[in-house]
This record gives sequence, C-alpha cells and structure tokens, in this order.
Amino acid sequence: MGHEMESWISRLFEEPDLLRMGHSQTPEDSNLGLGWLYYALGRIVRPRNAVVIGSLRGFVPLVIAKALQDNAECGQVTFIDPGMVDSFWSDPDEVLRYFESHGVRNIRHFRMTSQDFVATHDYRELSDVGLLFIDGYHTEEQAQFDYESFEGLLSHRAFALFHDSMVVRPDKVYGAENAYEMRVKYFVDRLKSDPGLQVMDFPFGVSGLTLVRKIDRNAPDPMRDWIEGLP
Ligand SMILES: C[S@@+](CC[C@H](N)C(=O)[O-])C[C@H]1O[C@@H](n2cnc3c(N)ncnc32)[C@H](O)[C@@H]1O
Repeated sequence: MGHEMESWISRLFEEPDLLRMGHSQTPEDSNLGLGWLYYALGRIVRPRNAVVIGSLRGFVPLVIAKALQDNAECGQVTFIDPGMVDSFWSDPDEVLRYFESHGVRNIRHFRMTSQDFVATHDYRELSDVGLLFIDGYHTEEQAQFDYESFEGLLSHRAFALFHDSMVVRPDKVYGAENAYEMRVKYFVDRLKSDPGLQVMDFPFGVSGLTLVRKIDRNAPDPMRDWIEGLP
C-alpha cells in the first residue's frame, strides 16, 4: 500500500465510529475491510456520479469519495441522510469541515430522506450514476424505494450495493422505542429472481453486503451488453 493511502486510513481510523457499522474494518493492519471493495469499484468504474443513501458517520461516502478523487477526472458523491440517529449531520459547515478533515472535497450532503431528495431539482439534474450505495432505512419497502428511485439513473457498467442485505434481524439504532426488523434481504431475494440482474452476496460485516448489476437484455451483442450500455 502506498504511503499516502496508509496515512489516509490511519487518519480515518482515528475516529472510533469509523471502525464500526459492519464493514469488517481492522485498524491493526490498516484494513478497510469491505471498504476496499467500495474503493476498488470507485477506481474501476470511475463514475462521474456516485450516490450514497444513509451513513451513520460517513465511512462509505468518505471511502467512495476518496476513490473518485484519486481518479484523474474526480467524480462527485451525492450523500443523502436526514440524520435520524443523532445530530451528527445537522450543521452543514461542520459536515463540510468533517469531510475536509479527511481530505475529501467531492461529497455533497443532502440532509433529507431519499423520499424528499427525489422531489428536488438536484435529483432531476442527476445522471450517469456509476455507483449506488443503499444503506438508509432497512425495511424491504425502503430498500425497494431507494433502488427504484435511482436504477433509472444508472450508467452502463454501474453497480448498486445494498448494505445489511443478508440477514433479517431486529435493529434499535433509532432507539428502543423505534425498534424495527431489518428486512433488506427480502427485497434483495426478489432481485435475485430477476433475469435482468446479476446479484452477488458478500458475507462479511455484521449483516452482509449485496452487489447488483443490471444486464441490458436488448443489447445488439448479448455477450457484451456492457459496451452498448443501457437504454
Ligand atoms: C444506521 S445508518 C446505517 C449504518 C451503516 N451501516 C453505516 O455504515 O453507517 C442508517 C442511516 O440511514 C439514514 N436514513 C434513515 N432513513 C432514511 C431515508 N429515508 N433516506 C435517507 N437516509 C435515511 C439514517 O439517518 C441513518 O444515518
């Protein structure tokens, strides 16, 4: 690993909260865990735009933004989170300073739900999304809403990722009084029966991760659907 990346990871892991949240990070060997996959996809896909829905302390938007900033063309991360857990995302200046303190300047935070974001001008202007990371409210219905709201904006060769997608379990992150059952898996199970998608689970972290790629079944060359792109 290069010295620059090693220092970036050391700085990241100075924040104890960026070691949590089910991405299999291990600080003792400067290991981003699943973060390597997010970083690698950022460098391989080289998206003009990435969208991240939901993050407690910004691990995913930070790692994807770092990858996009390390690309010569520097893509942008649209990060949508209303801050339903605590006040961490409430002050726009502090949020900007926080991202800058981690050396990234290409994240735009929208402090709102994805339901509210899809009604904005920024949503209407968004296109060419090469990475979509869904990690907001973990019900089956919300996972479906988030996927269906953005899948039409995916570029060809794009990937959608669902976090906490392999296990159905109770979650109290919004307080014991707002406990609910995480059911993203049920939506992902439905995607698995769609012949127009490739879907792969990564059994790491607390509740797993799933990677989804749309196949263009009408491509002139079905062996190379990814070259012609999706309609
Ligand atoms: C608990 S975090 C997910 C934890 C995660 N694994 C991580 O890496 O941070 C879920 C986040 O989704 C956000 N959220 C909840 N409902 C949302 C919605 N409808 N749209 C966007 N974000 C939402 C919450 O504010 C919270 O910060």
